[in-house]
Amino acid sequence: MKPFSKWNRFFSRLPLNLIVIFLCVVWIVPTLGVFISSFRSREAVRTTGWWNVLTPASRVIEGKAEYDQYCASCHGENGDLLPGADLSDPALVAGYPRSNRLLAMLRQEIDGGPHMEDQALLEDPKSALETLAPVLAYMEGISGGDTGSETALSLRNYADALVGYKGTQDYLTDCEGGGESASTKFECSVKDLLNPEGMGRAFLNTLAVTIPSALIPILFAAFAAYAFAWMDFPGRMWIFALLVGLQIIPLQMALVPIARMYADLGMQSTFIGIWLFHTGFGLPYAIYLMRNFMGSLPREVFESVYIDGANHWTAFWQLALPLSIPAVASLGIYQFIWIWNDFLVAKIFLTTNPVLTVQIANLIDPRGGNWHILTGAAFLSFLVPMIVFLSLQRFFVRGLTGGAVKG
Ligand code: HEC
Repeated sequence: MKPFSKWNRFFSRLPLNLIVIFLCVVWIVPTLGVFISSFRSREAVRTTGWWNVLTPASRVIEGKAEYDQYCASCHGENGDLLPGADLSDPALVAGYPRSNRLLAMLRQEIDGGPHMEDQALLEDPKSALETLAPVLAYMEGISGGDTGSETALSLRNYADALVGYKGTQDYLTDCEGGGESASTKFECSVKDLLNPEGMGRAFLNTLAVTIPSALIPILFAAFAAYAFAWMDFPGRMWIFALLVGLQIIPLQMALVPIARMYADLGMQSTFIGIWLFHTGFGLPYAIYLMRNFMGSLPREVFESVYIDGANHWTAFWQLALPLSIPAVASLGIYQFIWIWNDFLVAKIFLTTNPVLTVQIANLIDPRGGNWHILTGAAFLSFLVPMIVFLSLQRFFVRGLTGGAVKG
């Protein structure tokens, strides 16, 4: 062996290794940034970069600006000016676990007059809650909590994203206006999670869209693939060629005609409508891949079961499908991830039940303010695809080469 061959190998692989390392860094750094930001407070996200979590130098007091603007005139700089309502008293702050409770209180009258002169703040629940959340954080801070610190990380963004804004008047009187029994508390938590403006509800909607939309086309494609591969009927190759050709039709072309058709049938914004749409556009590729896989299974095995008297139905369920599990799995992952991340189709065909991707877009407020919530929301939305991908990546790689290698 030549003494330098080891070094030769090292240097000849160097460019490839460098490119791989570069790609990893380009991927991981922004993801890490979003991940860390998702645990930081609104104020911290707004004022400093995520890398500052490593240097606990400056302290940003969250909510001071909002508190000074709306509350300091009566309650004083430190919240303790009014003896009857000392906002720096931990016992009082504990009575306001969430900002909508605070909003309900501010709407009540004090001594026969409105609580605040500036009633405009309280009129629009959504913007009121947005202002009151930092005020509450400030009250927690001055009452001895540790939320004001720059380095304080919390799960609050995730909680806020999950339940969304609960702005309706009904909700405030039912759930934050004082009902304290265990059953109302439970009812309210369920209501929180099922709030149509939150990510929790959107998560359920996404599951309800994704699972059938992934399973239905795969089942149909398996049937069709078996027929194309192992049954003789006239025009088999022509129909298959047509199906392969259908793949080039862009999905956007079908949006308007199908939306109209659904409107005529009274199917707009139904889950069935979106399942059918994804099935239609998933089928050509699914049939193509499955046919190639099933066609490459050994012919002798099929011939021997036919000779034993098996019909197509048993041959499909007992032989073809079990042998095609790798193809089914890789197709399933593809279809699952593609539909989970779909925005366009869900936005158009499922307006009343927003899925995760659509809900994230809804969470962005017009002023681009609450992106601390978006970071949490983004992580909530890609948790499941990440788990699916990591646990099934063997099949995923096989799926990438599946269509190409098998003739
Ligand atoms: C116009 C003056 C005024 C403003 C502005 C004002 N408050 Fe008050 N607040 C009061 C008064 C008066 C009381 C009653 C004090 C008492 O009961 O002795 C009170 C009571 C409270 C209480 C105590 C309720 C309880 O549980 O007993 C809280 C909490 C509170 N205010 C929060 C706020 C917050 C938060 C803001 C800013 C968004 C605010 N207030 C703005 C005057 C004001």
